[in-house]
Amino acid sequence: MSAQAAKERPESLQFPFLDDEDTISTIKESKTFFILRGLPGSGKSTLAQAIQDRYKDACKVISVDSYKITPMVRSSLPEEYSKVDEDLVEYCKREVSVIVLDDSHHERERLEQLFDIADKYRYKVIFAEPKTPWRVDCSQLKEKNQWKLSAEELKKMKPSLEKEFLPMYFGWFLSKRSSEVLRKAGQAFLDELGSLKAFKKESKYFASAIEDPKIKIDLTSYFVKRPPGVLHCTTKYTEFGRAAGAEEYAQQEAVRASYGKGFTLSISALFVTTKTVGARVELSEQQLLLWPGDADKILPTDSLPRGSRAHITLGCANGVEAVQTGLDLLEFVKLEKAGSKGEQLGEIGGGRLLYFENGMWLLALAKRLEVRAVFSGYYGKGKLVPTQSTNKRGSAFSSCTII
Ligand code: 2AM
Repeated sequence: MSAQAAKERPESLQFPFLDDEDTISTIKESKTFFILRGLPGSGKSTLAQAIQDRYKDACKVISVDSYKITPMVRSSLPEEYSKVDEDLVEYCKREVSVIVLDDSHHERERLEQLFDIADKYRYKVIFAEPKTPWRVDCSQLKEKNQWKLSAEELKKMKPSLEKEFLPMYFGWFLSKRSSEVLRKAGQAFLDELGSLKAFKKESKYFASAIEDPKIKIDLTSYFVKRPPGVLHCTTKYTEFGRAAGAEEYAQQEAVRASYGKGFTLSISALFVTTKTVGARVELSEQQLLLWPGDADKILPTDSLPRGSRAHITLGCANGVEAVQTGLDLLEFVKLEKAGSKGEQLGEIGGGRLLYFENGMWLLALAKRLEVRAVFSGYYGKGKLVPTQSTNKRGSAFSSCTII
């Protein structure tokens, strides 16, 4: 959409995913659930229609009105949701890029069901609430809602919608296309590294990956756990609001304005340690606005440049949690800061290979990898999942089990 057309759009319908070209093209190459939220009559269906108009054939809207589900406070979810989910799963299987869920979404239980489906089919989630001036005014909503709900009934729904709904973490979520490119680059790196003489010499650190020391070390099997859903670069781990500074982070102007917006992240290196494999992200000035002040420390006394920890987890060894990847990257940065440049082992596919110590390998990419991503939240269970076929070399990145 041209800037002119964006200006013509009423203020209540100004969102990056409707107005910003970069965001729109990133979303088109992703798989996204837009979960609309708000009281009946607040303007969700108008917003759904605006998204439909913007993404046309790439978009399907699921409006619960068509399933005869009335929004209200109730003791259990209506059975009709199983029909909604049948249709939703059908769209997911068809890999429809944009699925808009038009419902009040005031029930945590219902949202959990949607997060599970999003994880299973690798969709990212963007919450969107109408910005209409009357969105929380029950006396006006009473006139506008199509179910003829009374102001009293609307008021009962209000508290659950007013609460700020914080994710497990905020971050940049890669487009489907960029995820594939990065997973492939990571896989190629693991394959090549595992077959190198220099790596075999130091292979004691990866003892459990050695099938036959004469042949290639199977790093694909070693990094058995993969992130569920889409690849991401965490900014703030908010732990559904429980983490220190979670609320403050979510309230920041930069965070609010960037939610649902597309970015291009620049990857300068891939790295492997005995615990994790990941990609190093170099954040721009604008991206650093979304970076929390306390993210780059392992010890309180650490003072590393802002954004040092920015990374994308590609895999973890058995028993290791994804949080470790960022800590491992900080170890590399600390060594660099202390003057270590790593042992130069020459060029391999994609860049210069460096060995630091204790099984720490880094591939400095000859050409940075640009990946497209949308800034949003992750709301699901977030557990790493084991790959299905851990012994088939070269297949694990493409054969991830998804929850
Ligand atoms: P990461 O891969 O970017 O490190 C779910 O656990 C996700 O939350 C993980 O993928 C991890 O993201 C991030 N995470 C978990 N615990 C964290 C913590 N304490 N601090 C920062 N990020 C964390």
